Amino acid sequence: MAGEGQATTERWGSRVGLVLAMAGNAVGLGNFLRFPAQAMQNGGGAFLIPYFVVLLLIGLPLVWIEWSIGRYGGKHGHHSTPGAFDAMGKSPYWKYLGVFGLWNCLLIAAFYLYIESWCLAYTGYSLVNGFKTTNPEKFLSETIQGQYPNQILAATNLGMGIFAVCVCINIYILSRGLAKGIEIVSKIGMPMLIFFAAILAIRGLLIDPETDPKAVASPFVGLNYVWEPKFDSLTDPKVWLAAAGQIFFTISIGMGSMQCYASYVREKDDIVLNGTTSAWTNEFVEVVLGGTILIPIAVAYLGLEKVKSLSGFGLGFIVFPELFRNWGALAPVAGFLWFGLLFFAAITSSLAMGQPMLAFLQDEFKLTRKQSALVFGGMLLPLAIPVAMLHSSSFFDEFDFWAGTFSLVVMAVAESVLFCWVFGMPKGWEEMNRGAELKVPKVFYYVMQYVTPTFLIIMLVAYIFEPAAGWKTYLAGTADGSPIPAWEFSSGSMMGKLMHKDLPLPKDASEHEITFNSQLKFMRTVDRGVMVASFLGLAALVSVAWARRRRTGENQQS
Ligand code: PHE
Repeated sequence: MAGEGQATTERWGSRVGLVLAMAGNAVGLGNFLRFPAQAMQNGGGAFLIPYFVVLLLIGLPLVWIEWSIGRYGGKHGHHSTPGAFDAMGKSPYWKYLGVFGLWNCLLIAAFYLYIESWCLAYTGYSLVNGFKTTNPEKFLSETIQGQYPNQILAATNLGMGIFAVCVCINIYILSRGLAKGIEIVSKIGMPMLIFFAAILAIRGLLIDPETDPKAVASPFVGLNYVWEPKFDSLTDPKVWLAAAGQIFFTISIGMGSMQCYASYVREKDDIVLNGTTSAWTNEFVEVVLGGTILIPIAVAYLGLEKVKSLSGFGLGFIVFPELFRNWGALAPVAGFLWFGLLFFAAITSSLAMGQPMLAFLQDEFKLTRKQSALVFGGMLLPLAIPVAMLHSSSFFDEFDFWAGTFSLVVMAVAESVLFCWVFGMPKGWEEMNRGAELKVPKVFYYVMQYVTPTFLIIMLVAYIFEPAAGWKTYLAGTADGSPIPAWEFSSGSMMGKLMHKDLPLPKDASEHEITFNSQLKFMRTVDRGVMVASFLGLAALVSVAWARRRRTGENQQS
């Protein structure tokens, strides 16, 4: 038992290291790419109100729950969620729900690492001033992705090569262990990233339309749009869903990675203070830095309306390198800072996606760190290759939806029920506050027990059944009083996705488009099979590990 696997004895080197690693886990592409896009699409200041409400009522309670589950699991020799859930739950089935904490990370890693590799490519290409002559859109779609419209196969040697390099870097760092790998990278990466972000934010705000002939508006127009409170969205369930989705993704809630990192703390370490500090660091980086770079700079050069229509992934990778051209000699430096920042943010997050699987293999199968890092790489291959080689509407988007959005909520429901109702709130509250200098205000006792799970369940139902006309229409009627349309699932809902509603065939589709559409639908069916198979595979591993434990008498269920 203790001493046999390395994971049981591994610990964070220092408190600063722990908080930076945790913040590195949370701070990622979500903060700099996803947040600005979500804020723009959901009305700027109108988005931020539900965002902060969700942070307080669901985000922070789940941060404390996940840290508590993690530390409790670690105390029982389990550093991944199947074991931690098993130690906390009373029925043997909990460990299978814990599989989500491995599955989410594995699937997210498959597409997240791919974007991380673009950041790496763009960092280098900016520095050699490559975007002076190359159109960044072409660079992404033709040089890196090899993706063309209506074509299912999409890959270039260069893109695949850089992706492979990126995966290897991650596996290498993971194989070095917690203190010598993840912790060191976070200690370097996090301060660098904040430094780079601050320079860009300040430079962006200094854009002056009076002296800069290319600027069409003041950057403060963009800043104002994000921050001006607008209360009209409070009744729109869509904005609430988007806000909750963003909070989950950015803090890494429901992924399994926060529990894993927290499982390496000492038994009496203050999880409330550490958890709260890392969550707020993430929020600072997201709303203050993330909110001050992309939108103000883009608005200054393109105008607010244009940016609203562009927002999404492309803004960061395509529009930004072009905008930096306005900065003349500073252009390569700005590009380097921006993509370097994204790369640091991404790598400290992707390491957090790998560690749970490593911990699982070390704890439950007694593999060494190096072996488990290699096995993790091996598991990643069959998932990552199709992500990189096929059109992004197949594997890439699907992993993002099912593992990156939907199942986070499933996992969060499971955790809050486990912690507040099965383990029980009185015991849970004590467990959470043990060793805490900062005590959680008592009102959260009831928030955690009632508000958080109720909110989560409503969210889950809303995700599954969202109607095309929007919940608001059914709850409050149409804006102009016209008759309420017949029920139809939206293309973004789980039901809609299952019915391929997000892959409509254009009316006058050409032969080629019809073929492409059916290829996409076919690939989606394949990748859903892959997702189910990987979940079952992981569940089988859990079952084998526990059977082994029983045989060797190592089962210390408490
Ligand atoms: N929170 C990270 C981000 O904002 C993403 C992440 C997902 C991190 C899963 C760890 C695990 O980009």
